[in-house]
Amino acid sequence: MTNIFADNILEGKVAFVTGGGTGITGGVARAFAEHGAKLAITSRKIENLEAMKAAVENNGGECLAVAADVRDFEAVQNAIAKTIEHYGKIDIVVNGAAGNFLCAANELSPNGFGTVVDIDTKGTFNVCRAAFEELQKSKGQILNISATLHYLATPMQIHVSAAKAGVDAITRNLSVEWGPHGIRVNGIAPGPIEDTEGMKRLLPEPLKEKITKRVPLGRFGKIADIENAALFLASDAASYINGVTLVVDGGQWLKGTSLG
Ligand code: HXC
Repeated sequence: MTNIFADNILEGKVAFVTGGGTGITGGVARAFAEHGAKLAITSRKIENLEAMKAAVENNGGECLAVAADVRDFEAVQNAIAKTIEHYGKIDIVVNGAAGNFLCAANELSPNGFGTVVDIDTKGTFNVCRAAFEELQKSKGQILNISATLHYLATPMQIHVSAAKAGVDAITRNLSVEWGPHGIRVNGIAPGPIEDTEGMKRLLPEPLKEKITKRVPLGRFGKIADIENAALFLASDAASYINGVTLVVDGGQWLKGTSLG
């Protein structure tokens, strides 16, 4: 899939991307680098970052890889500090680190629920909070990766639905509180995207056809669909967009996300 964006639309920008080694946010990180941004990517495990770092550098880009668990505020502060030490600034923060598994609510332990909320919601807050001063200086922006699971109700996903609803609340709140500081805060809510860890974990192959039929546009999304939305929101073309979570799902949620 091609995109319509000029190669240099993020020239001179520094992007700090959590979960930036793999999956949807890995695609966003790579696309940002291809369009001129210098990257700092984080993940819990440094080995999840190595392939992306090598791919970006082989393509002539710059990529700093720092291991950090977004649940650990000190580790997040350290990753931000290393990025500043390396590049001198941060212009764009992408919160993509997320946890997920399928589990019925009556079988889910409180710790299982809390673990996903801690990664997705508290992790998003931790990163935004730790990056605030740098984003204030750069008049930067935040992009939070969310989901559509909580717009209706998605069985086996109570923990992720609650966590992503919290992420959307963070996007709206910070857009109002930090807009006056010159920081734009937006989100993207992907629908079913093929070739992702989330889909591998959540969607047994036989259900793929059933879901495809429920997408008005008749196909699964590609990681490139999310990359294009992220490039738009990160670019100056979106300079008056603040507090929006852009749904990129082919219209799926409007038909209902559950199969029952
Ligand atoms: C039930 C489970 C479970 C499972 C873990 N738990 N996996 N419960 N079913 N499959 C419970 C554990 O029993 C434990 O509770 C608690 O969760 C913490 O588990 P740990 O393994 O100790 O946690 P941790 O090592 O921190 O791992 C976090 C994780 C992990 C979320 C559980 O599996 C993970 O990070 N997954 C991968 C990342 C991923 O899938 N990323 C893509 C997200 S896609 P107890 O009570 O036993 O102590 C995405 C898209 C959403 O977010 C939208 C899709 C449309």
